[in-house]
Amino acid sequence: MIAILDFGGQYVFNIKRNLNEMGFEAEVFPFDVSASLLKRKKVTGVILSGGPYSVYEKDAPVLKEEILELDVPILGICYGHQLLATLIGGKVSSGLGEYGFTEVFKKVDDVLFNGWEKKEICWMSHGDRVESLPSSAKILASTGKTKIAAFVYKKLYGVQFHPEVSHTPKGHILLKNFAQHICGEKKRSWDVKSFVERSIKMIRKTVNGSRAVVAVSGGIDSTTLCLLGKRALGSKLIPIHIDTGFMRKNESEKVVNALSSLGLDCKLISAQEEFFQRVKDVEDLDERRRVIGEVFIRILERVSKDYGCEWLLQGTIAPDVIESTRGQSKRRKKSKHGGWIKLHHNVGGLPKDTNIGIIEPLRELFKYQVRLLAKHLGLPEEFLRRQPFPGPGLACRIGGKITREKVELLKEVTDIAERELKKFNPSQYFAAIVEDEVTMNLNFPVAWRKKWFVNRIDILSQKSIGVKGDERLLGQISLIKPNDEFFGLDWLEVLKLQSEVTSFFKDVCRAVVITNESKGKYGIVLRAVDTKDFMTAMPTEIEWGSIKRLGEEIISKFPTVSFVGYEITTKPPSTIELF
Ligand code: XMP
Repeated sequence: MIAILDFGGQYVFNIKRNLNEMGFEAEVFPFDVSASLLKRKKVTGVILSGGPYSVYEKDAPVLKEEILELDVPILGICYGHQLLATLIGGKVSSGLGEYGFTEVFKKVDDVLFNGWEKKEICWMSHGDRVESLPSSAKILASTGKTKIAAFVYKKLYGVQFHPEVSHTPKGHILLKNFAQHICGEKKRSWDVKSFVERSIKMIRKTVNGSRAVVAVSGGIDSTTLCLLGKRALGSKLIPIHIDTGFMRKNESEKVVNALSSLGLDCKLISAQEEFFQRVKDVEDLDERRRVIGEVFIRILERVSKDYGCEWLLQGTIAPDVIESTRGQSKRRKKSKHGGWIKLHHNVGGLPKDTNIGIIEPLRELFKYQVRLLAKHLGLPEEFLRRQPFPGPGLACRIGGKITREKVELLKEVTDIAERELKKFNPSQYFAAIVEDEVTMNLNFPVAWRKKWFVNRIDILSQKSIGVKGDERLLGQISLIKPNDEFFGLDWLEVLKLQSEVTSFFKDVCRAVVITNESKGKYGIVLRAVDTKDFMTAMPTEIEWGSIKRLGEEIISKFPTVSFVGYEITTKPPSTIELF
């Protein structure tokens, strides 16, 4: 098998998923795992993950000498790449980072890059870079900003970019080349059927004859979980749907009806007032999610008591856990890299004193696996096609204080925006509200006026959650006001612009292109993304004319709206939801 050593990066489990998905056996180990354990596991190759550290930083995790002595091929990714470079006598420096979409140029042919063209797209998320290598090392690839984007030295390979994310389109080929051709691994396959059997056994054993409740939002994760739970527990599983008041227009009603068409009798719990009263004064974004998580669990505790249930089935999936728990390990608390990316309401939000047992059968699955499982359990196409909707609902999409006015406005705007954005087939699409308070005007390079027709860049006072170099960032939202020529640019140029804005201004994690302006107090940010697993995302290529018409409609219908814009940032450095 391939051993993946965890240096604290966000995408560690993406490496495992990628390899497993292609049929290779791979397991994640702590970075300081002993060589003797890897030997016992018959490891044929080692991958060093990315991480939020700088190699020269005090307390930065290092690779044990004994791992090198195993004499198996090693592939370092991002931080791992920099670590390997320093181990062989190279130098690493801090400089202009690259975040998200980047073009990479193959310099020489090497088996690692079999199947890659001379120029490919890759995904970057780094502040540091490898500056120099000993002359016996070979540079395999470069980007516009990073000369040593990939290298080989004996059996050691390093890549600065992330081959494990779906936005490095040929990344999986590189990982396959490493596993199959460099380490000599053979393929096997992920088995949905045995996953179902194992999960049913686990649920039955845990619940042990008593009853369980499952909260179904109507999204694919919780609905799939409900079907799995029904197979395991039959009438001893009680599905409920909680209306938080932050659902979209008429959504709760639709969800309960849709579930009933699947034969799932779902009880509707109205909790709008309870949620609103608890979050209305909470502006801190993490605290807001924590409070929402807590209200959820308290309601679930009450409902469980009413129905005599001791257990709760929860549809937490791997990305929720990764984004909520990365960074909470002890070693990271000691260093300056504290904190998680985003507290998902169902992970970081759970209070410790809950008296209900929680079972999370999907905890290790990625979205694509949930989809395979959903199909296997017979979930109809219309559910599979539904875009995800976060548990905290519209609360993740409201900047500043949550007020009834903002919630009502967002419900109406979302209704119109979804209708239009859907036409471009994104994986997820929505509208968010920000308060239109500009704190500063950015001084950007003059060249941007000519190249991308940028007229003005403003910064909103409201911060938003982003992720740069595997680290969470409470970042700024930039508003780009372009000339008309901008709207005729190739999409590739739009992607380059956003990448330039977020690299040049280190505190900026989002770029929104303003399409319509008026007088009012709220800005509407339209967001549509393409993604496979929601860990990384590309802004969906839209037609600007259609966004402008949508903007006009929103502005004419809602006088409190002062501008409408479309967000063009990739994840990273942004996240999908703004708040
Ligand atoms: P982010 O914003 O983290 O979103 O890039 C990734 C995916 O997760 C959803 N999301 C959440 N889902 N509880 C949820 O159930 C949450 O607290 C939460 N935050 C984000 C988001 O809609 C996207 O699909």
